[in-house]
Amino acid sequence: MMTGRSVVVGCGAYLPARVLTNHDLARMVDTSDEWIVERSGIRERRIAAEGELTSDLAVAAGQAALEKAGLSAGDIDLVLVATATPDRTFPATAARVQARLGILQGASFDLQAVCSGFVYAVGVADSMLRNGLARRALVIGAETFSRILDWTDRATCVLFGDGAGALVLEARPGDVGTGERGVVASYLRSDGRLEDLLYVDGGPSSTGKVGHLRMAGREVFRHAVTNISEAVETVLARSGYKIEDIAWFVPHQANQRILDATARRLGIPPEKVVTTVAVHGNTSAASVPLALSVAVEDGRIREGDLVLTEAMGGGFTWGANLIRW
Ligand code: ACO
Repeated sequence: MMTGRSVVVGCGAYLPARVLTNHDLARMVDTSDEWIVERSGIRERRIAAEGELTSDLAVAAGQAALEKAGLSAGDIDLVLVATATPDRTFPATAARVQARLGILQGASFDLQAVCSGFVYAVGVADSMLRNGLARRALVIGAETFSRILDWTDRATCVLFGDGAGALVLEARPGDVGTGERGVVASYLRSDGRLEDLLYVDGGPSSTGKVGHLRMAGREVFRHAVTNISEAVETVLARSGYKIEDIAWFVPHQANQRILDATARRLGIPPEKVVTTVAVHGNTSAASVPLALSVAVEDGRIREGDLVLTEAMGGGFTWGANLIRW
């Protein structure tokens, strides 16, 4: 039986040191800073160092979240890593992260929903915690998209970056319905028919190779605005809140134009939207926890605030979480 609630007790992030600017990219492919900024709002992104793996980013973000929570490895009994760029085909990156952080109890697994991975992982962790399957979950979004980009394709390689972010969720008694802190509601959706608009052209059982990201950008854009709006409206309807009740809107950071179009359509004022796409690019499953971490660190998101996340990505997958922080 679902009882209790999952409360955010820590939030952390990690970015690789190397910055790749639009000017750097203009030396690699036929593009310009003006084109990239105008079409996407992106100015720079981080790129993992040679030999720096998704698990390294995830461990650093997970460690930061544990420190913020004042917890140690012995307190965590679930590690979830949302990623589309695992270190290996198997084992799960989450199992490597569990070992590296010295977590010796509980379960660990990866969750693959591409850019929606973190939103999915929060929904899954919340239901596991409320079902008594775990007490405290480390929920991480971590990606090294630089490894699956076709660096000769100017239409895609300019849009993505590497990074990781993490939350610690803790099972507590009581109900969120009464204004208590915790995950209020989640909404998770997919429609596998639209795979050809956004995918990676490789994999263990198809080509035996990792492959490269392929995207029909204009079509993805169109679906993104519709699906994100649906996710936000549904999660609000499920929880009984209205758009005006939201303190902070923390969207998946795919493209400034998608963020602006969705916020406009939903009637969310720009000052309530947390935006990091200019300096992170699209970091897929890492983008929401990276943005959450920025807004917690700079003091915007405070305990008790109603925070709305959303994402949309390959699959297609999409979804949203409403969290009383
Ligand atoms: N530099 C210069 N020119 C470029 C570049 C580039 N980096 N990339 C493409 N172009 C050219 C194209 O070749 C095309 O030229 P043509 O007219 O001579 O054929 C022209 O620019 C226009 O291309 P479009 O793809 O139609 O440009 P659009 O305005 O749609 O912008 C973009 C492209 C930025 C990809 C946009 O469609 C978009 O943001 N889509 C959403 C994709 C997205 O965010 N995906 C992330 C994954 S899913 C998610 O996270 C939501």
